[in-house]
Amino acid sequence: MIITGEGPANDDIRYLEEGARRRGHLPCVVPWNELSVALDSRGPRLCSDGVPLEADGIIHQMSTDALGGLVVLGAVGEDVPHLNSVDAVLRSADKFATHVRLVAHGVPTPATAFCPNDRELRLFAREYGYPVVLKQPDGARGAEVTLAREEDELLAKAASIRERGIPLLVQRFVAEAAGRNHRVIVVGGKFVAAVEQTGGRPGDFRSNGPGDVCRPVALTEEEVSVAERAARASGLDLMSADLLRGADGPVILETNSFPAFGGFEHVDLCAPVLDLIERKVRENTSLALSGAASPEEILAAAEGDEPLAAST
Ligand SMILES: Nc1ncnc2c1ncn2[C@@H]1O[C@H](COP(=O)(O)OP(=O)(O)O)[C@@H](O)[C@H]1O
Ligand SMILES: [Mg+2]
Repeated sequence: MIITGEGPANDDIRYLEEGARRRGHLPCVVPWNELSVALDSRGPRLCSDGVPLEADGIIHQMSTDALGGLVVLGAVGEDVPHLNSVDAVLRSADKFATHVRLVAHGVPTPATAFCPNDRELRLFAREYGYPVVLKQPDGARGAEVTLAREEDELLAKAASIRERGIPLLVQRFVAEAAGRNHRVIVVGGKFVAAVEQTGGRPGDFRSNGPGDVCRPVALTEEEVSVAERAARASGLDLMSADLLRGADGPVILETNSFPAFGGFEHVDLCAPVLDLIERKVRENTSLALSGAASPEEILAAAEGDEPLAAST
């Protein structure tokens, strides 16, 4: 099993590595930029530092900052089961693409418009009613998520963000939730845990960013169901959703791939993640043995390779 992420292994990767070891796997932790892949009619072959890697499954923590790593993942495709497909990762990196999926799946989410110019910004902001939230499709940690209380402020803030050539989203403000967000982890379509996140910046409507605090929280049945539906809509195996408690019930703000585990120390996140990758590996193996490729073909494909890490 390969566990890969951006840069040197962080606490989350080490946590999964230890968990995998305890279950008898031989996890191989490799930064994405040290992974190479060769692809021919025998299928994909992974390699790191000149050594072939025999991988039955991949857990990765890659986002769009690791485009090269996502290319490798795309190349192994369904041959090596992994948690979070490239498609799902790319979609979740874009808040509007996510919004499109949430709406298509009937998941409650604040009204949002993608606006290339000021005319539409003004139009939709008036429709939603001030204050409105202005954000970038690809921001993170609350950066460039801002509140506009009236039109002049909206246009001034939009101009300053546009100076950097960034498209903008205008969104209905969920005032009831100001400063509080629920980070909800769903693995394999099933709710695992939630924390309430409150901002470290007094008076700020954003719950994340420097100094934010997370504490365990219980969700209602409806909230669990909304989060699980968001996971289905996003297509993410391993997801965290931002859920706000609105006046008319829960709404999903966005979905994130490979959630940072910080704040969830009270929960065993390893078990559901490993259960899921093990299940995918089993399903993949039985598919291969049921005719997609014969065992001889699989052995032939591996011939000449010296596996560095084998698993299960
Ligand atoms: N429409 C909104 N209504 C209320 N609060 C919001 C809204 N949009 C964002 N926020 C607040 O700002 C934070 C950051 O916004 P979010 O869209 O999740 O971007 P990021 O990718 O930076 O996390 C959220 O966690 C939430 O606290
Ligand atoms: Mg967020």
